[in-house]
Amino acid sequence: VHDITRRKALERSMRRSEALFRATFDQALLGIVHTDLEGRFIRVNRRACEQLGYTEDELLALGYLEVTHPEDLTESAAHHQRLLAHPKEPFEYQVTRRYLRKDGSVLWALASVGVIRDDDGMPEFFLTMVQDITELKKVEEMKNEFVSTVSHELRSPLTSIRGSLGLLAGGAAGPLPKAAHDLAVIGERNCERLIRLVNDILDTERMEAGRMRFELQRSDLGSLAARAIEAMQGYALGRKVELRLLAPARPLAAEVDPDRFIQVLTNLVSNAVKFSPPASRVEIAVLEHDGNARIEVRDHGPGIPDEFRDRVFQRFAQADASSTRAAGGTGLGLYIAKGIVERFGGTIGFETAAGRGTTFHVELPGTTTAPALAAPRLAVSA
Ligand SMILES: Nc1ncnc2c1ncn2[C@@H]1O[C@H](COP(=O)(O)OP(=O)(O)OP(=O)(O)O)[C@@H](O)[C@H]1O
Ligand SMILES: [Mg+2]
Repeated sequence: VHDITRRKALERSMRRSEALFRATFDQALLGIVHTDLEGRFIRVNRRACEQLGYTEDELLALGYLEVTHPEDLTESAAHHQRLLAHPKEPFEYQVTRRYLRKDGSVLWALASVGVIRDDDGMPEFFLTMVQDITELKKVEEMKNEFVSTVSHELRSPLTSIRGSLGLLAGGAAGPLPKAAHDLAVIGERNCERLIRLVNDILDTERMEAGRMRFELQRSDLGSLAARAIEAMQGYALGRKVELRLLAPARPLAAEVDPDRFIQVLTNLVSNAVKFSPPASRVEIAVLEHDGNARIEVRDHGPGIPDEFRDRVFQRFAQADASSTRAAGGTGLGLYIAKGIVERFGGTIGFETAAGRGTTFHVELPGTTTAPALAAPRLAVSA
């Protein structure tokens, strides 16, 4: 005769722990899904079924391929690969992802995905937690549409005001007394700032809605950089900053939308000039780096403060946002630049040292050089 009291107690406590986990799994307000390494669902909770409009059995016959929005599939697969490849990295990532419900409608979700490993560290299955943010997305879309409408409505009258003030200042309506002329110039300049702001807000909104139009074409980055510099020359002169282009001897090409690429560089150069001390130099270099094309914009300004470095690329982020700050702008420039560069499949980053200056760099992938040019292009300088 064996005394099985202990074993019974152990079984009871196991059952209880199992039941607790089951209840947590089933009653969670988040959709929870376990997916095997081939992408098939092996466990789904009630909330996940409700979110996607399937019964549990139906869902278990599917995998993430069938319920992920086709446009999010590549990224999703890449994330899974990354999770498997880096056992030591923080094992979870959080992304906004679109899923397809049974009725074909789109479920916008905030998905947290991790990989569960066995005792030997071998991956067993993926754990995904899904929060439905469809309503939030709708509100956001409404807000964006509102902003976009208002901005569009602002742009035409502003353009007209700028035109009129420009004509006045230029003497088109007869010579103005000096004081009146100066006022017209101030008005025109401020109008221009407003138009730039409206355009940036429209770009931001378009980018977030995925509606920014890109016409990618193989372009010579050196020539585009020269055009961006040309556009910034007046501004640089006004601040007594010299712009210098260091272009490669051979054309360096990448797949970009030329106007958008110039927009990125213009912002980087305008930032560099804005934060440069007078009589200093801003260098713009176009070069090849590890088989990629790389563009660097280097200034000798104050650098970016430590505590601000994480937020540089966020919307409306500025190190000094006080109304008395010396430099103008709204803090949208780098946010937009990052969005554009990422659409080109590239990356943007910076190095900075307090009191010594900052270098922003853009790297674009898969670039091969074309045949050599006759002579290296000359630097443009103020
Ligand atoms: N080269 C630089 N040197 C020092 N600080 C910089 C530099 N470039 C950017 N920053 C910091 O990053 C912030 C954000 O730059 P961003 O280009 O996004 O906005 P902005 O230039 O202030 O306004 P705008 O929307 O007109 O571009 C700046 O306000 C500044 O605090
Ligand atoms: Mg800027």
